Amino acid sequence: MSSAQAPGKIILFGEHAVVYGQPALAAPVTQVSAEVRIAAARRSGIWIEAPDIKVDRRLEALPTTHPIAVTIRNTLAALKASPPQAVTITIHSTIPVASGLGSGAAVSVALVRALAAYLQKRISNRSVNALAYETEKIHHGTPSGIDNTVITYARPVFFIKGQPIRTIRVRRPFTIVIGDTGVCATTREAVADVRTAWEHDPARFERLFESIGTVAKSARRAMQTGTPERLGPLMSENHALLQEMGVSSPELDHLVNCASKAGALGAKLSGGGRGGNMIALVPDGGETAVAESLLQAGARKTITTTIDPKGASL
Ligand code: PMV
Repeated sequence: MSSAQAPGKIILFGEHAVVYGQPALAAPVTQVSAEVRIAAARRSGIWIEAPDIKVDRRLEALPTTHPIAVTIRNTLAALKASPPQAVTITIHSTIPVASGLGSGAAVSVALVRALAAYLQKRISNRSVNALAYETEKIHHGTPSGIDNTVITYARPVFFIKGQPIRTIRVRRPFTIVIGDTGVCATTREAVADVRTAWEHDPARFERLFESIGTVAKSARRAMQTGTPERLGPLMSENHALLQEMGVSSPELDHLVNCASKAGALGAKLSGGGRGGNMIALVPDGGETAVAESLLQAGARKTITTTIDPKGASL
């Protein structure tokens, strides 16, 4: 028997621009997670039970491009291991799908680690991250790699595509309320639309990407110098730039406005946009008022999370 867990994540700053080489900041969200258990089975073959996505079948019966099948195949190849003979792989997740909280990457990371543990093979974080990135390509098309990185390392990260991972030392903890619009939106589509718009007007979009990169760098400084209250206005600025890029939505804008009216220091969409989740920075003791106002404004669910120096401990 083996098992592994991986947290959800939020992008604090820099989504979309990160695909074009700008820095972005992300943090793990341990209140939600994906869990993979692998146990010996009586029936032969590899069986996948993932009730959340209504999968209950043999591995060979999944399409060869299914993210779970790809992750298992790539992991076995990377570990130079032959497939286990009779096992059930059970996958559960409390991370909502298609909502910017990293559900796909969390399943991949937990699956890679659970497989390695079951086969009694050691695997480095770097390899876990690389394998999860391969699967992200199926989910996203041209992913920056930020989701798999923040989830693999389970620490707040300052991420630049193609560069070595840098974790952030958060000098003073701060609290974020996450609000779910309940609207499912695929990151792949939002990323593709931004690409088309960038191709039509590269100068305008490069200016937007650069402005977002500048915001992300200021945010990193605020976290490292223990002045998280500065993140509020930076979040609002980042949201306005994402609106200009065309990746917000009326539901996201509505929740962002409600959070600000209820006392948030700043708010923005988080992740691919068009739906999914928004985040709001709240002052000490302000989380209940903001969460209640988001629920009244139509949020499907809220999660309150604190970003602290250690990040998640897994
Ligand atoms: O998976 P999501 O919805 O959190 O989006 C990831 C962030 C993007 O910048 C939109 C895409 C990427 O690959 O970085």
